[in-house]
Order: sequence, then C-alpha cells, then structure tokens
Amino acid sequence: MSDAEREALSARIANEVLGASESWTRRMFELGLQMRADGGGPVWDLSLGNPSLEPPQLWRQAIVDALRDEPPGMHRYMTNAGYPEVREFIAGREAARYGLDGLEAGDVVMTVGAAGAMNVLLRSVCDPGDQILVPAPYFTEYTNYAANVDAQLVPVPTGPGFSLDLAAIEQVIAANPNAARVLLLNSPNNPTGAIYSAESLDALAAMLNERVGERKRPFWVIEDSPYRDLVYPAQPGAEPDPVPSLLGRWPNTVLVTSHSKDLGLAGERIGYLVISPQARGRALLRRAASFCNRTLGFVNAPALMQRVLPRVLGRPEGRVDVEIYAQNCRRMAAGLRDLGFELPDPRAGFFLFPALPERLRATSSASDSTSGDIALTERLREHRTIVVPGTAFGVSEHLRLSMCVDASAVDGALEAFRAACA
Ligand SMILES: Cc1ncc(COP(=O)(O)O)c(C=O)c1O
Repeated sequence: MSDAEREALSARIANEVLGASESWTRRMFELGLQMRADGGGPVWDLSLGNPSLEPPQLWRQAIVDALRDEPPGMHRYMTNAGYPEVREFIAGREAARYGLDGLEAGDVVMTVGAAGAMNVLLRSVCDPGDQILVPAPYFTEYTNYAANVDAQLVPVPTGPGFSLDLAAIEQVIAANPNAARVLLLNSPNNPTGAIYSAESLDALAAMLNERVGERKRPFWVIEDSPYRDLVYPAQPGAEPDPVPSLLGRWPNTVLVTSHSKDLGLAGERIGYLVISPQARGRALLRRAASFCNRTLGFVNAPALMQRVLPRVLGRPEGRVDVEIYAQNCRRMAAGLRDLGFELPDPRAGFFLFPALPERLRATSSASDSTSGDIALTERLREHRTIVVPGTAFGVSEHLRLSMCVDASAVDGALEAFRAACA
C-alpha cells in the first residue's frame, strides 16, 4: 500500500487491518487467479476452502416450492433473530442431536453464516481488552473478528494430533483470570481436520467448572462447527460418527454453524447460533444476539434461505456427497506421506495440514520469514501449485491444503510436490 493510499483510509484500517493481518489465504488465492490469467497451463489451486460440490438438487427444488407456496409478506423485514417457525425447527433438531432438555426457538438466532454468528456473539459478550483463547492452529479470520471488538486473540498450543491441551488452556486462564472471556473451539477443525473427543470435552468442562464456573463475569465457549456434517463414514453409505459437542457438557456454550460447507451454500450466507438452555445470562444473551444481528448491519439472515432449511435438512437426498472430499483428502495424504510428510488420517472436511519432512524444515535459528513452510510455498508456486503456509494459521513448518478441487488437481499437485521436494 502506498503512503497516499494509506492516508486516504482511516489509520486503523490502513495499518492494523489491511497492513498487519492481510490474509495469506486471500493473497495466495489471488496469486493463483493471476497465474491463470497469465496463461501457461493449468494452476493447481489448493488455497481457498471454497466448496467445490454443488448444492443438492433437493435444495433447488425447495426454493421453487417455497416461492410457489408462499403467502404475502415473505420478503419483508422480520424479527431480527429470524422466522419463529424456522428457529423452532432448528431448536428441535439441535435438542435431539445433543440431548438438550429445554432448548427453545428463543435460543436460536438465524445469522449471516457462521462468520456473522461469531461476530454477533463476540460483540455481545466481549469488552475491549478481553482475551479470546483459541487452540492453534486456527482459522485465520478469528484474528479479524477479535479485532472487530478490540479484544485480543490468544493462541494456545495443542497436544498430539492437534488435540486439546487442557493444561495450556488452564494456564492462560490462570495467568489472566479477569481478562479471559471466551474460548473458541472449532471441531472438526480448519485447518487440521481434528475432531475433539467426547473424553477431552468432558475434561474441558470439568476444568472450566473449577476455574471459571463460579466467576461473576461469565466465561463463554463458542463452538464453531460448520464442518460437523462433513465427517467421513467408515464405509461409503454408512452413517458417520457424530461430532461431540460441549453443548450439554458446559453450561455457557454457544454453538455456531452454517450450511456454507455441508450444503455448498457459502455464497448464500445462511447460518445460526444455538445458546445452551443452561447458560447463565441466557435471556440477556438471546436479546443481545438479536440486537447485534441488527446493529452490526446484518439485520436478519437471508429470508428465502431460512425458509428453505426445513425442507432440506435431515433428508438423505439433501446432502452433498462427502465421499468426494474424502477421496481427494485420502489420495493426497497418501501421496504426501510417500514424500515424508506427516499427517493424521483425514476424518472430516476438506483440509489437510501436513507437517513438513525434517529435511524441508528451517533450522531452529531461522526467523519466521524463512520458515520451511514459506519456502516450500514459494517453490510449489514455481510448479504452478498454490498452497497456504502453516504460519498463516499460527503454526509454522506445516502447509494448509484445501482439497475441494477436481480429482485432476490432486494428481497435478502431487506431481508438483514431487518436483518441489526433490
Ligand atoms: C472454521 C470456520 N469458521 C467459520 C467459517 C465461516 O463460515 P461461513 O461461510 O458460514 O460464514 C469458516 C469458513 O471457511 C471456517 O472455516
């Protein structure tokens, strides 16, 4: 950015927002677009998590049906939290899914995607200077969401296989008990694909109970779960194992999700948040979330998308075929292991987060700018393959690969890896 450009903007946007935290993912994605425009052959772009599977046919039909049957007034303003009958439907599904007694339509706020839900919640519960803890690596947009409310995002190390490290979380809370305000959990995780086990969530709930359970100012867990319905079944066609949740385990939990990924509707911006019926300050949070949905400028979630959900969710033909993402991830993982990369068996979503083989890592004295992941990202680019360095997600010496691509891109990218790692 030039000095003139910087002066044309507010100093805060220019320096803090566009300067320091410009997204690696977006930068790499745009680089890929430029390479394509310049010509010279295919570009294997594994940068952006943009769902490649089309929404199910049932969703298209549901839109037609919803428009055909509609009474007057279905495209006007509504209550900011969304249509009551849609929230009732969602509350019923979530109560059944997690065994929640007493969950009501009032605990559900329909939002502009999971991103909208998270911004609404952080605005509702955070004061400037509060700490938002997040296990690393993490979805990079969290940094911007924390900045929106002048809070501080505090990355916390994870354990083997990117599991929750309770001691590390407890240590951060103990170090600054008054500032620690929110823990963000994302399972299945972007970028690692990790799913937090029921046992680890039980232990987390016990620890939180002891540490912050009695605190006057509530401590919140926001569970960001847009990949929970993209878990791979053990055999094609079988039901996948459910993803455990902290809802029902720790009272002050709010689950956030969307259908950007599992129905391939990222551009339609439909999501919601679910407040635990046991939450302390439940009534106030319901009101605050609805208020912030309005005042942050979302006003309400898209009307037509809300009305379509009850016609699609829960029907077998209302799903994308997750097996396609699973095949891409498994094939890529196997090819990378042959080259010495380390990564767990893919279980959900469409991201891989392989650790670089020892020979490709930077020496311990190297600075961030020369870390092995950034160097390899550059070399892969020379072989027309676009990835994002793990540094962007708070953990270096890894790469983040998005596998929502055509099968041909898996072969092309593996070829590039072989050449770049030779
Ligand atoms: C972990 C995580 N949370 C939230 C989002 C935002 O999703 P939505 O499109 O529903 O706003 C994404 C999108 O990539 C994500 O990966």
